Amino acid sequence: VRVFVPRDTTALSLDADAVADRLRREAADRGLELTLVRNGSRGLAWLEPLVEVETAAGRVAYGPVAPGDVPTLLDAGLLEGEGDHPLALGPTEAIPYLARQQRLTFARIGVTDPLSIADYLAHDGFRGLERALDLTDQDIVEEVKASGLRGRGGAAFPTGIKWQTVLDTPADQKYIVCNADEGDSGTFADRLLMECDPYLLIEGMAIAGLAVGATQGYIYLRSEYPLAKEILDAAIARAEAAGYLGDDLRGSGRAFHLEVRLGAGAYICGEETSLLESLEGKRGLVRFKPPLPAIEGLFGRPTVVNNVLSLAAVPFILAEGAEAYADHGMGRSRGTLALQLAGNVRRGGLVELAFGTTLRTLMEDFGGGTASGRPLRAVQVGGPLCAYLPEHQWDLPLDYETFAEVGAGVGHGGVVMFDDSVDMAEQARFSMEFCKVESCGKCTPCRIGSTRGVEVIDRIRAGRDRDANLALLGELCETMEDGSLCAMGGMTPFPVQSALRHFPDDFRRAPEGDR
Ligand code: NAI
Ligand code: SF4
Repeated sequence: VRVFVPRDTTALSLDADAVADRLRREAADRGLELTLVRNGSRGLAWLEPLVEVETAAGRVAYGPVAPGDVPTLLDAGLLEGEGDHPLALGPTEAIPYLARQQRLTFARIGVTDPLSIADYLAHDGFRGLERALDLTDQDIVEEVKASGLRGRGGAAFPTGIKWQTVLDTPADQKYIVCNADEGDSGTFADRLLMECDPYLLIEGMAIAGLAVGATQGYIYLRSEYPLAKEILDAAIARAEAAGYLGDDLRGSGRAFHLEVRLGAGAYICGEETSLLESLEGKRGLVRFKPPLPAIEGLFGRPTVVNNVLSLAAVPFILAEGAEAYADHGMGRSRGTLALQLAGNVRRGGLVELAFGTTLRTLMEDFGGGTASGRPLRAVQVGGPLCAYLPEHQWDLPLDYETFAEVGAGVGHGGVVMFDDSVDMAEQARFSMEFCKVESCGKCTPCRIGSTRGVEVIDRIRAGRDRDANLALLGELCETMEDGSLCAMGGMTPFPVQSALRHFPDDFRRAPEGDR
C-alpha cells in the first residue's frame, strides 16, 4: 500500500517527519506492508500533515495527523483507506477546498514525489518543453502572448511582450532569471511550487530559454528557503542527467543550463534590478530604468526576469495551447491566480482560481473566516506595499484592473486577514517602518521619507497636533509616491493611505494633546 506523507516546509514544521517515522515503525511492529512516499503538499496548510493512502478508488486523506494519531489510524483501517476516524477526510480530490479550485499551475503539487522524473512524466510533465523544441523561437513567444499571461510577481506586465523584447535584442549571450525572492508578507506560493513541483519551474525556464535564445538561467532564491534550494539543486542534477537541461536538450542540439543562486535576506532584492546587482555579486541597489533588463540586464546582456509563477505557467500554455489558458479569467487578466490565504484565517493555504473571484469567497468560503473567531475587519492583498481593503470592497472581482481602480493591488496574490482587534494606525506605522528597514537607500523620498513617516504616525497616534500631522502625512505620501525610484518607496503610501481612508477612527484613538 502506498502511503503519502508530505515533506515540504509547511508539513515538516508541523512534524511530518515524526509522523512518517511513526508510521514506518508501527507498520513494522504490526507486520503490515506499506510503501512510504514523501510527496509535496496539496497546499491545504491547515490540514498538514495531510496523510494520504492509495486505494483502488483513488487517494483518501487524513489530517491533520500528529505522530500520536498513528496507532488509532492504523486500528481504524488507515491502510485500507477506511473512513471511520475523526481525522478521515474521504477522497482527497473531493475535499471542497481542493475540489473548487482551478489548478492549472499547481495541478501536480502534493500528487507526485517532487524529485521523481518518472512521476513528473506520468503526470504530463515536459510535454510543453517537447512541443517548444518543435517550434521556432517566435512561435513560442506568440503562444505565450496569445495566452494573455501577465507577470505574476505583481506588476502584471505581459510576459510574451517581455520575451519579445529579449528575442529582438541581438547579443552574444542572453539570460533567463527567475525571481524566487518571495518576500511579500503572507506569500508562500513560489516556495510551495519549488518544493513540490520543481521540474515545472525547470521546464518553464528551459522553454523561456528556447523562446528568446538564452542558454543560461539562474534561479535567484531567498536564503530563507533552504529546503527549496536542496530540492531545486537535486532536480536540476536529475534533469541534466535525463537530457532536459544541459548542452543538448533531448537531442535537439539546443542548450540550456540552470543554476540556483542564494540571496541574503534583503526584501529589495526582489526588485528586478537590485536582484540583478545582487546576482552580479554587488550590493542590492536599485538601478535606474531604462535601460530595461530585457535590453541590458544581467552582466549588461538581454535578460528575461520573471517570477516563479509566471515561468511555471508556461509549460501548461505550451502543452495545452494558449487558448486553454486564456479561457480562464476576466477582462485583461487571463488564466489563474495563485492566492495565498494567511494571517488570521481558520483555513490557510493555497487557492488557485481563475481571475474574477472575490475576496469574500476566498476569506469566507475557502478560509472559513478568522482563526480567532472574531469578525473580519480588514484584509491586505498583494503584500506590504499594497492597500488594506475594508468590507465594502470584498465583493470586487479579483482582477488587475478592478483592483487598480480602487487604489489596491493584486500583487503576488498574498491575502493577509485581520480581525476586529486590529489597530489600523499601527498597521500604517508598520508599513512605513517596513520601508525604513528595507529601503536600499538610493533615493531620498524613500530613505528619509519612511523614517519621517514613522515619526509623523507616532505623533498622530499620540494625539499631538493631530490635524496638522495628518495633513503632513498626506503630503509625505504624495512625495514618496511621485518621487521614489522604485515600488518600495513608491508603493509604501498605498497601505498607509488606505488605512487613513477606510479606518480614520483608528488614528484618533488617543485623546488630542495626549503625549
Ligand atoms: P514595472 O511596471 O516597472 O515593470 C514590470 C516588468 O515589465 C519589469 O520586469 C520590466 O522590466 C518589464 N517591462 C516594462 N516595459 C517593458 C518592455 N517594453 N519590454 C520588456 N519588458 C518591459 O514594475 P516593477 O518595478 O518591476 O515591479 C513593481 C511591482 O512589483 C509592483 O506592482 C508590486 O506589486 C510588485 N512587488 C512584488 C513583490 C513580491 O514579493 N512578489 C514585492 C514588492 C513589489
Ligand atoms: Fe531604493 Fe527606496 Fe529608492 Fe527603491 S524607492 S530605489 S528601495 S531608496
